[in-house]
Amino acid sequence: MEKVLEKDFQTFKLTEDQELLRKTIRDVAEENFKEKAREIDKTHRFPRENFELLSQLEMTGLTLPEKYGGGGMDYVSYSIVIEELAKVCATTSVILAAHLSLCSIPINIFGSDFIKEKYLKKLARGEFLGAFCLSEPGNGSDAQAMLTKAEDKGDYYLLNGTKAWITNGKEADVYVVLAQEIPLDTLKEKGLAKHKGVSAFIVEKNMAGVSFGKLEDKLGIRASSTCQVILDNVKVPKENLLGSTGEGFKIAMVTLDGGRIGIASQALGIAQACFDLASSYAKQREAFGKKISDFQAIQFMLTEMATEIEVGRLLTYQAANLHDTGEKFTKSAAEAKLFCSELASKAANKALQILGGYGYTTEYDAERFLRDAKITEIYEGTSEIQRIVIAQNIIKEISDKI
Ligand code: CAA
Repeated sequence: MEKVLEKDFQTFKLTEDQELLRKTIRDVAEENFKEKAREIDKTHRFPRENFELLSQLEMTGLTLPEKYGGGGMDYVSYSIVIEELAKVCATTSVILAAHLSLCSIPINIFGSDFIKEKYLKKLARGEFLGAFCLSEPGNGSDAQAMLTKAEDKGDYYLLNGTKAWITNGKEADVYVVLAQEIPLDTLKEKGLAKHKGVSAFIVEKNMAGVSFGKLEDKLGIRASSTCQVILDNVKVPKENLLGSTGEGFKIAMVTLDGGRIGIASQALGIAQACFDLASSYAKQREAFGKKISDFQAIQFMLTEMATEIEVGRLLTYQAANLHDTGEKFTKSAAEAKLFCSELASKAANKALQILGGYGYTTEYDAERFLRDAKITEIYEGTSEIQRIVIAQNIIKEISDKI
């Protein structure tokens, strides 16, 4: 077992470009998104102008190839950008994360040259906003249990079904949609597993038959436009099949591996924001004749937050780095997401406790951080799913070594 968990120790040093990117995105976020974060949390208003500013700064195509108008940057850079955005506005960070890692990146990995020309350039430039449709009202963690159907009609595919919990739902222009193409009976006859009949399609908002459910009234990330995407006899051109027939489940899993690094980064940003708020408050607030930062009870809370944030950051950069070097990163991504999402909730609780009564009000951001943190333990695979993914990979590593 020890051998399995052994890792080469790496100290993580960001490159000058990555440090510069962090400073740039931090300044932009502080200046443009921070004040607004409270307003959009209250009103649920989707901040399209934030996405537009990110597109002007070439962030909407950050990791996409330069050939298609992207920035050609690495995944560590992506992680830094999402973390910095999440520090001031978790909603804005998930809008970009869903656009890039759940929609644009799978199109880049699995799309034909034709499809990349058709969609990737506009996604990279931020002319299109992307979304990913896997979950349904009756299935989330059990991704194979989807009911959405795709029928091959010769000249086109016909899609029918309802997708749920879609980030950027009503606002997106392009959706990567997973649907059961090969009927279950056919798969059974051929002795094939259910997931071998799932395919992925690119659906546009303006295709006839696409409509939306009501916006979900959420606890946190309240402005990110989460709703059902309803597909009623939607005719999808043949060339909009992503990858090949039956490859959809694999596409979804590969997409979520990358997406989970984004959510780990988002959670890390929220945790860092909690630490920053709590530590600056503790240095100013006085009780019993001294600053509350002088009390060991407060110091211990700050210490735990700071230590766990460092661990979370190393896990996240390690997963991103494995992604960049082309190594397997499924387990690392799940570890980073599991650790950072639970850290975000813990850090938010501690920040609120340190701020006391003020933390429980909207005068400070601690209560928003707590509400925003919770979703990171749920979307793109719950903490329970991350534990399953990590366990499956550990067991496989053990079996491979025996
Ligand atoms: N990469 C590539 N292929 C993978 C893979 C990966 N990481 N994980 C599994 N697969 C492949 C397997 O190899 C297998 O293929 P073969 O039969 O050809 O070998 C196939 O997928 C099925 O694998 P499993 O039998 O392990 O599948 P399962 O049904 O047991 O499910 C699971 C595994 C990990 C639980 C998966 O269902 C899962 O990740 N569930 C959570 C889904 C999720 O995260 N949903 C969130 C939706 S996105 C969202 O949140 C909305 C938003 O907008 C933010």
